[in-house]
Amino acid sequence: MLFGDYKLKNLELRNRIVMAPMTRCMSPDNIPGADVAKYYERRAKGEVGLIITEGIEVSHVASSSYPNVPRLDSEKSRDGWKLVVNKIKEAGGSVIAQLWHSGAMREAGMGPDPSIPAYTPSGLSSANNKNAHALTHSDIKKISDVFGQDAKWCEEIGFDGVEIHGAHGYLIDNFFWDTLNKREDQYGGSIYKRSQFAKEITESVRAHVSDNFIVGMRFSQWKQQDFEARLVNSPDELSQLLMPIVDSGLDYLHASNRRYWEKEFQGSENNLAYWAQKISGLPTITVGSVGLESKGESFVNMSSNAQPVNIDKAITDVKERKYDMVAVGRALLADPDWVIKMREGRLKDISPYSEEVLAQLI
Ligand SMILES: Cc1cc2nc3c(=O)[nH]c(=O)nc-3n(C[C@H](O)[C@H](O)[C@H](O)COP(=O)(O)O)c2cc1C
Repeated sequence: MLFGDYKLKNLELRNRIVMAPMTRCMSPDNIPGADVAKYYERRAKGEVGLIITEGIEVSHVASSSYPNVPRLDSEKSRDGWKLVVNKIKEAGGSVIAQLWHSGAMREAGMGPDPSIPAYTPSGLSSANNKNAHALTHSDIKKISDVFGQDAKWCEEIGFDGVEIHGAHGYLIDNFFWDTLNKREDQYGGSIYKRSQFAKEITESVRAHVSDNFIVGMRFSQWKQQDFEARLVNSPDELSQLLMPIVDSGLDYLHASNRRYWEKEFQGSENNLAYWAQKISGLPTITVGSVGLESKGESFVNMSSNAQPVNIDKAITDVKERKYDMVAVGRALLADPDWVIKMREGRLKDISPYSEEVLAQLI
């Protein structure tokens, strides 16, 4: 079933394997060039069902966190994305753009105006560091609008959908997380209130695109700043977090784990994507060390030299409808033909993941 076709909303996918979004920092002047198109085309030719692009900075002054990350707010950048989309489609693939605002993870000096500070829910860039700009209501409206406008551009470019990046310690997740969200208005306090910002962004995106266009959201418990962080501790809390967003028009949820086989809540062996699917009724994507041996601490460090391993658990879980799609990150960087080789049971032919792969990202 994992390798069989699948329909996500109205989109026919040739299998349920998704390329996870992975930042590459290889788009000078924020414009994805022909080499970027080639990189994605290789994975589409390798028969990945659905590609989710690297995070694309939304068109806001404080969205940048790293150099050479692609954007959408110049005609040249949109032309660059058109080439990427065309190459993927010609190779029989499908593609969703990940829209990203860095929030607390903004690095000083990045983006169109380097003097702009990080924008965060209440001015905290980390638990004890109040050197960021606290979003005003007018900032919140502006950022919702740019997510909507950028999604509209994505539809015009030819993407099959957008994924709103609500994970890993960036802006939307900063609102979810009570360590950084100390607001006392309608955007802070209870879990429900902390999800209102994400809800408004989803509503704005939905209002700017056609009904057919896919809108998903990625979320996680863990943060780049804190791998052990948790937003919720029970299915009931997860429901309070997700349902306001789901009800505003999401088509799928992408539950980001660092290891997909790990259980999420006490008393059940099931993972975050399972619970997100059961609670929301939406299709969900799981992710995290799929096809890679896992040891060590961070998804970057632990990957330094990771050997290919079988994905029997993912195959069984999809058959049992515990989640619907399976995203693969580093393994697809190491070997663009990973899907074909895995389907044919050629584990020994799959290239291992190494530091050199991470350094090159080709
Ligand atoms: C180099 C690199 C860049 C990444 N960039 C992003 C990103 O832009 N957006 C995102 O949501 N996750 C990003 N991630 C996380 C991956 O999407 C994925 O969740 C993580 O690598 C775990 O999957 P894996 O074990 O299959 O690699 C990145 C991971 C890596 C290794």
